[in-house]
Amino acid sequence: MSPKYANYMKRLLIYLMALLPYFSYAQFEDARWIGSDQYMLYAKYLPQFRISWTVQLDKKSDRLAVLFGGNDPRLMNRNMNILDVEDGKDESFIKVQLDAASGRMEVWRMGYTTKREELLKSFDIGAINASDSHVIEIHCCLGSADALFDGRKLGGVVLNPMGKGGDYIAYPQLSNIGYEVEAGQHAIIHNVKVSNYRSPYAVLYEDKGVQKIGNKKMAVRKLMDPSHGTMPLLRCQFALKQKPIKEATLTATARGIYRATLNGKQVGAEYYAPGISQYNKTHYYQQYDVTKMLTRENHLFVQLAEGWWAGGMTFSGGNWNYFGDQLAFIGRMVVRYDDGDSTIVTTQPDSWEVCNRSKVTYASMFQGEVYDNTMTADGWRNAKEMTLEGHLPSEGGGTQPKVNDYSSFRMEKATTQVRLRKKLQAVNMNEVRPGVYVYDMGQNMAGFPRVTMRNLRKGQQLTFRYAEVLYPDLPEYGNKVGTLMLENIRAAMAQDIFVSNGDSCEVFSPDMTLHGYRYIEITGIDQPLPVSDVEGMVVSSINHFTADFECSNPLVNRLWQNIQWSMLANFISLPTDCPQRNERMGWSGDISVFSRTAVNMADVDAFLRKHMQAMRDVQTPEGRFPDIAPIGGGFGGLLWGSAGITVPWECWLQYADRDILAEHYEAMKAYIDYVDSHYFDTTTGLLVQERQWGDLGDWLGLEDGKNDKTLLFEAYYIYDLDIMRQTAILLGKNADASRYEHRLRERKQFFIDTYIDQETGMTIFSAFDPNPKGQPIDIQGSYVLPLAFNIVEGPLRQKLVERLVDCIERENTTDKGFRCPSYSLMTGFITTAWISRVLSDNGRSDVAYRLLQQEQYPSWLYPVTQGATTIWERLNSYTHTAGFSGNNSMNSFNHYSFGAVGQWLINRCLGIERDEAKPGFQHFILRPEPDSTGKMTYARGHLDTRYGRIESSWQRNPDGTVSYRFVVPEGNSATLLLPDKLPIELKSGTYNF
Ligand code: BGC
Repeated sequence: MSPKYANYMKRLLIYLMALLPYFSYAQFEDARWIGSDQYMLYAKYLPQFRISWTVQLDKKSDRLAVLFGGNDPRLMNRNMNILDVEDGKDESFIKVQLDAASGRMEVWRMGYTTKREELLKSFDIGAINASDSHVIEIHCCLGSADALFDGRKLGGVVLNPMGKGGDYIAYPQLSNIGYEVEAGQHAIIHNVKVSNYRSPYAVLYEDKGVQKIGNKKMAVRKLMDPSHGTMPLLRCQFALKQKPIKEATLTATARGIYRATLNGKQVGAEYYAPGISQYNKTHYYQQYDVTKMLTRENHLFVQLAEGWWAGGMTFSGGNWNYFGDQLAFIGRMVVRYDDGDSTIVTTQPDSWEVCNRSKVTYASMFQGEVYDNTMTADGWRNAKEMTLEGHLPSEGGGTQPKVNDYSSFRMEKATTQVRLRKKLQAVNMNEVRPGVYVYDMGQNMAGFPRVTMRNLRKGQQLTFRYAEVLYPDLPEYGNKVGTLMLENIRAAMAQDIFVSNGDSCEVFSPDMTLHGYRYIEITGIDQPLPVSDVEGMVVSSINHFTADFECSNPLVNRLWQNIQWSMLANFISLPTDCPQRNERMGWSGDISVFSRTAVNMADVDAFLRKHMQAMRDVQTPEGRFPDIAPIGGGFGGLLWGSAGITVPWECWLQYADRDILAEHYEAMKAYIDYVDSHYFDTTTGLLVQERQWGDLGDWLGLEDGKNDKTLLFEAYYIYDLDIMRQTAILLGKNADASRYEHRLRERKQFFIDTYIDQETGMTIFSAFDPNPKGQPIDIQGSYVLPLAFNIVEGPLRQKLVERLVDCIERENTTDKGFRCPSYSLMTGFITTAWISRVLSDNGRSDVAYRLLQQEQYPSWLYPVTQGATTIWERLNSYTHTAGFSGNNSMNSFNHYSFGAVGQWLINRCLGIERDEAKPGFQHFILRPEPDSTGKMTYARGHLDTRYGRIESSWQRNPDGTVSYRFVVPEGNSATLLLPDKLPIELKSGTYNF
């Protein structure tokens, strides 16, 4: 094929792919994706960009500088930064100076730190003819920049004084741009252009005007704000026939997120519609009953915002505008009259209008929302049909699938919704510095505020910032004490701005962004707002909890609530690791370990099924489940990817959802094939994964460094095989079933031979370097999985249990050399999920209770004693004595993984446990295990299943005996297993023992 022809074919294919979305779904028929043909730019919130200047020096001049990152409001107010600066106007910026005489291009950081002027890099550009036109270019991504001169890359430079990469508060944002020349120097700037950092590199701002700069007597410095436009607002006006309406339905979705308003009222009660997905594969839409909202003359408005389509939504700055660079909406309303007639309204460029002057100046998941209440939408013009052509990024590859591949695109009706779950009211306010008011919501939460403001001046600007914690009163935090700790929010700006229109009462509720926070700082007001006017809108995809738990230990009760709160905050359209920092991603390891708790806590069948679709959508063609879904990529490995197997299995056991297994089976199978063909070392037979950076083990386990990671991989692989075997049987795939059965037996034996000293029952190292083969591992995290997944049986199992108990009862030393008391939780994300269950399954609930009720670090309750209202990423994310222990960056206060103990509270402490032989609770097991140590004296709670409410409680009486009470719902039966008693079959009814 000639290159020309090949090129033609390629372009044709891209074009056809762009058209594909129109033909692949019927719900919208002839409706069109519509939006705005103009890009907007909010420069103060843009941390990745490409900027270029075409410059020419006057014959007698040899120096000029171009500027960006100027007048960042955070640097102009000491309260808004921890760099200890408060710059005046035009005092802070990044300066790129061209020095023709010395043949150098220098990058300076001005006013960002107390050093004031810092030369960051000086590049040699060689001899140039200064009076020719030259192009200076900077490609900046979360503060890491490349400098280019005349298209030639000179090198990289870190501009961010906080640190390199996404783990830090991001500087610079594009902010103000401009130029500077010294007295007597003259130059011409021909063209200034700002484009997106990520392909397709849309131009966000361009000034082609020729600017002559320079003054004989004085230096000239000029900075200006290149921002323009707002988030697009669409509208359509339509009339209905004058006859009774039978029903009216609006079907809608967006690239980005949308909020539709019909005749002044919001359509539906959900937030962030259409929700996240791997949009180039599965795009969800909503259907709303709008029958009662219609009149004869109707006005439909649709506000768009970036959501998960564009803007920031992963830890990597290069993923900005991940799915595309333009927002769009598609909708179709069908109005049926009583007489069978109908009116249909669809999104069409000629009947819809768009404006780029909405009140929502900017709204992004990570950056926050900027809302200008002075704005009245005007400048309406015809909406633009938005094809994908020219708007799709071409990056991707490896375990991160390309997002411009629409070859298997589908539209699906959404089965989950993010809704308002609770409203909180601030519990107190502190003026931490003059005019800086910090409101405490009393609870770490995810959502957004609803703030009522009275009698503001027109144009008055309020700034809202959000934090999970404040700097505690410890010497190392100096003058920051009491103020917001934002370092752990990292590169997400998480800041809202409200501009008042001067009305006597205004309400700000930025529902097109999402914040994870407990504290809100409000500045820009003369008087503090009453706490009752600062509300917290807690949103979640979880409608209600199906389980509840209460016991005599108040700290355990708080732990339970913390698990619930972290689940609410991290089940927002996708199961995230955390809801606050520049991450909020569908990390597979986290949902894998938390899934058993999740399915008990709430009905998350549809939610997890949607998530499994995302796992399939990002599965590589070779079968690997990536560590993050949607999006793909990551650096976990088998312990993460196994979520593609463990999660549907949990849904099967809990909800008897056979469909999730049926639709996911081929993907599960492909994953096992992938592991088989890629993860094994053929010489040692060990499951070594791909030996890439990150092959993660017992993540954040305090002794993870002492473990043999391959032991964990192998154990999980065995668990996966066991699930595959059972799933294959269930689905009638007999050949597969025997294949998995065989493999399972083989690998169990391999495990025993490799990782266990049969004499002592001690875990030992394999030949996986750098481990000394055969030497004991003997840490908690090495015993849990072989016991949890029934890899060892009989007397050997007993030996392992004893070893595990020994590891728990003894004092241990962390990898960092910290001495921990007996009954410390030394396990990481992976093995914490199973440790209590393993103890109970092997007759050692007493040890499980000791571990659970340990209050010293490291333990589940330690964070509770330190004031936790959610589950923390680390068991010492914060301590009264050591603050954040130096972990100011990777330190989330809302990470459900360690909360995986929730399942044990329901399944073992209360003893409400599914019967794996009869999934979905048709028949279940009641096996409460009261605390034999005597510390917990009662526990009670319930679990709602589709059959009704199962109740269980126990109480230790003064004479040491235990009383029990159970309720078995109508149409249900249970097997009761009480300590030291024979099993009893219970039919529906209430029982006291
Ligand atoms: C996330 C985790 C995740 C991990 C993988 C972290 O940044 O927050 O919870 O599983 O990366 O290492």
